[in-house]
Amino acid sequence: MRTIRIFDTTLRDGEQCPGASLNPEEKLEIARQLAKLNVDVIEAGFAIASQGDFDAIKTIAQTIKGPQICSLARCRKEDIDRAWEAVKYCERPRVHTFLATSPIHMEKKLKMTLDQVYKQAVEMVKYACSLCPDVEFSPEDAGRSELEFLCKVVAGVIEAGARTVNIPDTVGYTTPWEFGKLIENIIKNIPQVREKNVTISVHVHDDLGLAVANSLAAVKAGADQVECTINGIGERAGNASLEEVVMAIKTRKDFFDCATRINTKEIYKSSRLVSNLTGLMVQPNKAIVGANAFAHEAGIHQHGVLQDRATYEIMQPEDIGLTESKIVLGKHSGRHALANKFKDMGYDLDKAALEKAYQRFLEIADKKKDISERDLEIIVAEEIYVAPEDYKLEKIAVKSGTHDKPTAKVQLNYKGEKIKTTATGAGPVDAVYQAIANLTKVKARLIDYSIQAITGGTDALGEVTVRLEGKKRLFVGHGADTDIIVASAKAYLAAINRLLYAMTKEQS
Ligand code: KIV
Ligand code: ZN
Repeated sequence: MRTIRIFDTTLRDGEQCPGASLNPEEKLEIARQLAKLNVDVIEAGFAIASQGDFDAIKTIAQTIKGPQICSLARCRKEDIDRAWEAVKYCERPRVHTFLATSPIHMEKKLKMTLDQVYKQAVEMVKYACSLCPDVEFSPEDAGRSELEFLCKVVAGVIEAGARTVNIPDTVGYTTPWEFGKLIENIIKNIPQVREKNVTISVHVHDDLGLAVANSLAAVKAGADQVECTINGIGERAGNASLEEVVMAIKTRKDFFDCATRINTKEIYKSSRLVSNLTGLMVQPNKAIVGANAFAHEAGIHQHGVLQDRATYEIMQPEDIGLTESKIVLGKHSGRHALANKFKDMGYDLDKAALEKAYQRFLEIADKKKDISERDLEIIVAEEIYVAPEDYKLEKIAVKSGTHDKPTAKVQLNYKGEKIKTTATGAGPVDAVYQAIANLTKVKARLIDYSIQAITGGTDALGEVTVRLEGKKRLFVGHGADTDIIVASAKAYLAAINRLLYAMTKEQS
């Protein structure tokens, strides 16, 4: 049976999604999870884009075992050198270089003739092959390119040494019928594809909501690699979602007659991790990983599922690693029980992280009788994947209601020093945020604020996610607590701490 290679670009195209910027530690954490998911290739970034991107790719290449590690590069020597410098440390490095081939991109963006584009693509693939044993080439905007010229470029780069040619629908313009036909034509018209055993890959954007459908049409037409991202995040409307492509191939094996190497039981965790770290929420009705994807609301459906799950379920929640959020621990559970539970859930926490998680667990267990797996996930997201905490919340008291002007008294700990103030606002959260802004003196604009109850009941943890804009970038913060005002303050401080951390990283 054919194996379809899964090329994950969450850390490159996914990170191009507005507001999804990740720090190097977070990128490494996601790369670790992608390795557990068993993706074939991790596109870890665009090495020449910034020093931060370069460092993150290099660390991933030095640390992550299993998947190939790849960096993107324009068809320019300096880009290719930088990409190679970043990935050369891993066992199987890959350089992915691209140049646009559509009339509009060549004329308006590149201001290059067809001949110039052809020559540069071939020359730069040759150059990349002189450095890196595995080179991928993408004719950007292939979906709107003229077939004859596209085939000429693809044949040229194969002769130059590219062993994977990726066909992007950069602007998500094509339909599944057209895109499938395009892949079929490329394979049919370019004999070198078969002769040199070249992998034809696809990379589709979701502007018309067709990214997954187009990717699957391409697989049916003979493409052997799909480029995709966790939760479908990416430039504009995003990329094809990894979980949807993989589960479609698995669930409809009878139709696609192929398989991937993905460990689907890691899908749910990957989705949660990416959502927690980027602050990009997954819509409840999202296929595969949305909160409602396996929920049966209508009585008639519930009745059917109780008789036989297959009446309304074409996949099992367990297939994607979604187990019922069981009550797992309580106030009297010790460090050992907590460590074992984290291990069971697949989290490898070192001693310091475990101690931090345990202290937080005790705080929550004091307020909430039963702790579920979902609560533990929140502890990991809130306590472990965070920037150093320059500012910590110590005390908070708010007054609000129909008679009083909302007022907040906030005390923070700043590197060991207690600082406090009182502020008013339009509501209690606004008052708290005014107080924190006055104390930290960090210039940032609140872009997003959302709150979600984790598990049911009035003693549920409230999880607040905020996004702040500062230094022309967005920073995400999470906070969870049984008191939603406290959760709101923690989320705001977490985002401020990340902003300060990014600033110190940039200065160093
Ligand atoms: O969408 C696109 O064309 C890309 C290429 C760089 C592969 O992201
Ligand atoms: Zn793209």
